[in-house]
Amino acid sequence: MSKLWGGRFTKQTDKLVEEYTASITFDKELAEEDVRGSLAHVAMLGQQGILPAEDVATIEGGLKRVLDRIRAGELAYSVSDEDIHMNIEKALIEDIGPVGGKLHTGRSRNDQVATDMHLYLRKRVVELVGLLRDLQEALVGQARENLDTIVPGYTHLQRAQPILFAHHLMAYVSMLGRDIERLQDSYKRIDTLPLGAGALAGTTFPIDRHFVAERLGFGRVYENSLDAVSDRDFILEFLSHASIVMMHLSRLSEELILWSSTEFRFVELDDAFCTGSSIMPQKKNPDVPELVRGKTGRVYGNLVGLLTVLKSLPLAYNKDMQEDKEGMFDTVRTLSGALRLFAPMIATMKVNKGQMREAVNKDFSNATDIADFLVGKGLPFRQAHEVIGKTVLYCIENGKFLLDLTIEEFQQFSELFDESIYDVLQPETVVNARDVYGGTARPQVEAAIGRAETALAET
Ligand code: ARG
Repeated sequence: MSKLWGGRFTKQTDKLVEEYTASITFDKELAEEDVRGSLAHVAMLGQQGILPAEDVATIEGGLKRVLDRIRAGELAYSVSDEDIHMNIEKALIEDIGPVGGKLHTGRSRNDQVATDMHLYLRKRVVELVGLLRDLQEALVGQARENLDTIVPGYTHLQRAQPILFAHHLMAYVSMLGRDIERLQDSYKRIDTLPLGAGALAGTTFPIDRHFVAERLGFGRVYENSLDAVSDRDFILEFLSHASIVMMHLSRLSEELILWSSTEFRFVELDDAFCTGSSIMPQKKNPDVPELVRGKTGRVYGNLVGLLTVLKSLPLAYNKDMQEDKEGMFDTVRTLSGALRLFAPMIATMKVNKGQMREAVNKDFSNATDIADFLVGKGLPFRQAHEVIGKTVLYCIENGKFLLDLTIEEFQQFSELFDESIYDVLQPETVVNARDVYGGTARPQVEAAIGRAETALAET
């Protein structure tokens, strides 16, 4: 059979042009959505009396058979039929004869492809939100296990103040919570039906767009037919949100990689999530977080790629827009792949509580608290800061930590020191002193974990 649009042409399409312009190699991923959209469209054509009921029934039967063949991997796609829409239409016509040609009444591939993309992304966003929750659950689980694990908190990657390891993990739970909110918010816009916009201007047939919207479960329809077929901001929004999720995962990856190093030895990833070296027998490499960190680049690339494709495109549809697909598919795959691995990797990660404590015992991350102690005794904070700076310098020069100093040594720096300083300097005291909402004190972190567990249980 020749091209579905062959009438106006006197020559065959150049083979290289066919290959270059075809999208079937990748948009076959939209097969299920394409058939779903067509079923809703043809039902509407019947309901509106645009097609007789028997044609509708024949087309519906044919579409279902085509879908079965696709699912069974039995439909051979052809590059000369360009894309998934025409491959399916061709298969339908081969199956039921010329009546199959009535399916495309009142529709264009432009509103058809936009509809397929909305259906596709709507489904994926729901799946991704579920995967994000799984990861939150794994992090909250580890946090619960580490409510008494004290670890240095860093700024500038220099030890800053001791914190609960649970508090550190819960920071990621909050980030992922906002990622979920962003995806759920973008869902509103994805949940909008383009079909019925026709090629760009609407259609001469008395269609009912709201009927189709209801069939496909869309919350609303696009208000403007040009906008419906020519914008891809719903994909851009998804790619932006996905980039932010990957950025969060990449930061967590970086920390896991650092923490797994011999220099830190804070955590050990389970063997199942690491690989060895072909030459160095001692190696256990954190490949999964490394690769997630690396793949963040391609997810950003997909966003910038599509922004650049759309920039300067005149309304309405342009073939450039076929470039919207591969990046979107790739981002969905990359992100869901990362999330699927991260949840079990975090859940099975071994936390070296002893090593973390050892690090806290050998640092000056309690220095802020003696400054605060002196402030409590009436010294202005700036002067207290100066006193403690000198005390720390003294420690460094004498190979000591603050808790190693005798009371006489402390008092060289300020008369205000007394024996109670030894309790103030204990890591537990330091942590629990930060008893503000959102702070690292144990009761605050326990409450935060409780809130997260409740929220996860409710969904
Ligand atoms: N394969 C095309 C795409 O993905 C479908 C829309 C084609 N429309 C057109 N007028 N050529 O963008």
